[in-house]
Amino acid sequence: MKKKRLVTSALPYVNNIPHLGNLLQVLSADVFARYCRLNGYETLYICGTDEYGTATETRALEERVTPKELCDRYHRIHADIYDWFNIQFDNFGRTSTEKQTEITQGLFLKLEEAGYINEKTIEQLYSEKSSMFLADRYVRGTCPVCGYEEARGDQCENCGKLLDPTDLIDPRSGIDGSVPVLKKTKHLYIDLPGILPKLEQWIGEASVRGFWARNAVQMTRSWIRDGLKERCITRDLSWGIPVPKDGFRNKVFYVWFDAPIGYISITANYTDEWEDWWKNPEEVELFQFIGKDNIPFHTVVFPSTLLGSGENWTMLHHMSSSEYLNYESGKFSKSKGIGVFGSDAKETGIPADVWRFYILYNRPEKSDGIFTWKDFQEKVNSELIGNLGNLVNRTLSFVHRFYDGKIPEGGSDSAFWEKVKEMEGEITKHFDRAELRDAFRKIFALADMGNKFFQAGEPWKTRTSEPEAAARLLRDLTYLVRDLGILLSPFIPAAEVIGKWLRTGKLSWEDLGSLTGIADIEKPEILFKRLEDKEIKTFKERFAGSQKEREAKEQVENHILKVGNTEIHVSGEPVRTNKVRDGEVS
Ligand code: MF3
Ligand code: ZN
Repeated sequence: MKKKRLVTSALPYVNNIPHLGNLLQVLSADVFARYCRLNGYETLYICGTDEYGTATETRALEERVTPKELCDRYHRIHADIYDWFNIQFDNFGRTSTEKQTEITQGLFLKLEEAGYINEKTIEQLYSEKSSMFLADRYVRGTCPVCGYEEARGDQCENCGKLLDPTDLIDPRSGIDGSVPVLKKTKHLYIDLPGILPKLEQWIGEASVRGFWARNAVQMTRSWIRDGLKERCITRDLSWGIPVPKDGFRNKVFYVWFDAPIGYISITANYTDEWEDWWKNPEEVELFQFIGKDNIPFHTVVFPSTLLGSGENWTMLHHMSSSEYLNYESGKFSKSKGIGVFGSDAKETGIPADVWRFYILYNRPEKSDGIFTWKDFQEKVNSELIGNLGNLVNRTLSFVHRFYDGKIPEGGSDSAFWEKVKEMEGEITKHFDRAELRDAFRKIFALADMGNKFFQAGEPWKTRTSEPEAAARLLRDLTYLVRDLGILLSPFIPAAEVIGKWLRTGKLSWEDLGSLTGIADIEKPEILFKRLEDKEIKTFKERFAGSQKEREAKEQVENHILKVGNTEIHVSGEPVRTNKVRDGEVS
């Protein structure tokens, strides 16, 4: 029996516009889920926005709205962008829901019952000026490692080192600038060392059974080797899930404790049968797509929550943890606003499928990848258009023109089909192991083989000299084009149009390699347009520098004045453009 496939992509932080680097996860999972559906697996693809925590609170303060308002607004922005990229979620939810509270608190109580929650009194930085304990990110100071003066209490943005707020030299409150004092307070900890024996056994088996990527195995091992410590799961904030325990009622759960539980609650908000997916390890395989920076949360922390609860949860099967995608000469950066953002991609007028093509063709699976405009143009023009588009177009146009749109009768070349089927088998294997880049590249190799076959067969000559050979060639190639349409459609949904031209109706993986089902065809159109030097040059200039600089430029152009934090059109109307430019808010 085919197991059901539960597919997730890392829940993006709500408080930003996603850039192409973030899109990579969502897109990869979409390709995989589409493949699974086409290959007859019962499939559920779940994602949503990760909404709680300090980052949201801070951003809301900056934008002078409530956290809830901020989340509502950005959730929409995320949903619209993914929709534009043709992401077929079964549900794109959010973590700030009733179900999330219910399930998170439930898991917490189970962990407590099992003895895996400890209480500790610690000394924490406290702002007397604001009468509050400062959550990690609300403390700023000098990084003890690199000396960067604006380091945050959870991590130094300059050197990447994970920190505790008390590690900072000369700490100050990020909220009011005052010098905080140490004061005693109680927090709750999840006892990872206590759960470790169960965890290690599970990792040993799951990483093999689920063929985890090498980076996932390595990072997980090194986390454990460095010594698992208890982790604090409570925070002094208001925007979060209340802790259901006396003495802690004014605290909330740490966002990384609740966020992965979002996968479950978003499913529960989608279907009442959510336990058929999440408490059904015998029949369900969980595939998770994340960036490599999130690995330990998905292989250590979240699995510990589930294992420690003592309940029968569906646990991670395969972890597809991609490397980073960089932009031109540097890094994509949300905080610095560098790179191409989801909303920008839309504004270029380049179709979503062309973006999908390039991001996936370049998917950084084994090493970091780079997005450059020049490479984008080259790959689109040479592979997508020069190779694939060419084969589809020349084959179908030939049939349309010289055979009156009827698929020529006759035999087929068995050596050719043997090769095709062998490659299709390999492609399917890559898909099943979520090696999307390998699958994709092999599909283009298959198209290339088709082009060479066309070229070598010279049908423009043999059509009159050896009509049977020509007929066989065009018949074979038409079926190959149909197969390519099937194989490509998870990556490039627009490829489904091939099925329409061939009048085959809805196709699936089962149709691969068969030589029946096509009678006559429609006149094909061009699949994609070339990217011209001129447009690429314009985009490269338009998306140079940071979002801030671009906004500043636009503001000058659009006569927008900035008064304090409010932006005012010279006409007098205030506009809400904080990082969100016109047209992005629906
Ligand atoms: N919001 C996190 C990020 O963007 C990812 C959360 S993944 C989940 O890095 F497991 F918590 F859901
Ligand atoms: Zn540092």
